[in-house]
Amino acid sequence: MKRPRILLTRRWPDAVEQRLARDYDMVVDSADRPLSARQLRAAMSAFDALCPTVSDRIDTAILSVPNACVRMIGNFGVGTDNIDLEAARHAGIAVSNTPGVLTEATADIALLLLLTAARRGGEGERELRAGAWSGWRPTHLLGMELSGKRLGLVGFGRIAQAVARRARHGFGMAIHYYNRSPADPAVEKELGATRHVDLDTLLASTDIVSLHVPGGAETHHLIDARRLALLRSDAILINTARGTVIDEAALADALANRTIAAAGLDVYEREPAVHPALLRQDNAVLLPHLGSATIETRSAMGHKVADNLDAFFGGRPLPDPVIS
Ligand code: DGY
Repeated sequence: MKRPRILLTRRWPDAVEQRLARDYDMVVDSADRPLSARQLRAAMSAFDALCPTVSDRIDTAILSVPNACVRMIGNFGVGTDNIDLEAARHAGIAVSNTPGVLTEATADIALLLLLTAARRGGEGERELRAGAWSGWRPTHLLGMELSGKRLGLVGFGRIAQAVARRARHGFGMAIHYYNRSPADPAVEKELGATRHVDLDTLLASTDIVSLHVPGGAETHHLIDARRLALLRSDAILINTARGTVIDEAALADALANRTIAAAGLDVYEREPAVHPALLRQDNAVLLPHLGSATIETRSAMGHKVADNLDAFFGGRPLPDPVIS
């Protein structure tokens, strides 16, 4: 039987590439840079499956090329806001993602941002490397202590709960969350978590706000200038979800005017571009979308895509269906 032709739009961990090469006619874009829309359109008629990353935009123009062969998209990522799902459904293309395996790694990065922003680690490191550290002094780079502070989680899925667990059990923080539906009572009890039914109230009453909602039209600029103005002047905003959830220009203003104390960001509206005004803010901790970047997690994500491809081409139900 002819082996399915698959395209990996980036380099993947070696073990996963080797696994896929055994069963598929695989092309890896070894340039490891985003493919152009033209290249992606051409790929639609040259492969049976595309395996994009969360930074490849698979939009209607790509999904509606005539004479397409692609029948399945195995997204290397849990978020699928890079894919026009309606257009994929319309074109009869199955889509899978990689839930579950990046929860702990992403929660770790949220905590890294939270600690770095609260304790001004980025400012300190820059000062030291610039040779500008004049030595220990009682008022040097004072930050916020986490113990006893209120953490407000916007969205309360797997990653938010993993962040809450670390914050509660590791740092003694009080957990508040905003979510459409209440969490499992056992989870609420374990974390001592309080649910807010109104986002504005949560924003106004917590010390650190961490975002955990999916990207897409529904959450676009959920945190805009009006909502940023609700935050306390000593508040810290953390985003490991999607850049589009925050109006970056408004956030840069809030940081510059010190209407909030700091922000820790791992994701941006137009990656890999970062709003230039954010780059100028000393109280912004900025990471290049490292949430899932551990050896263990990236391998697990790759194997998940492989499991979904195997199921699809083996005629079995997708283990992680977004569209089946
Ligand atoms: C995802 O999988 O959605 C993440 O953003 C990648 O780290």
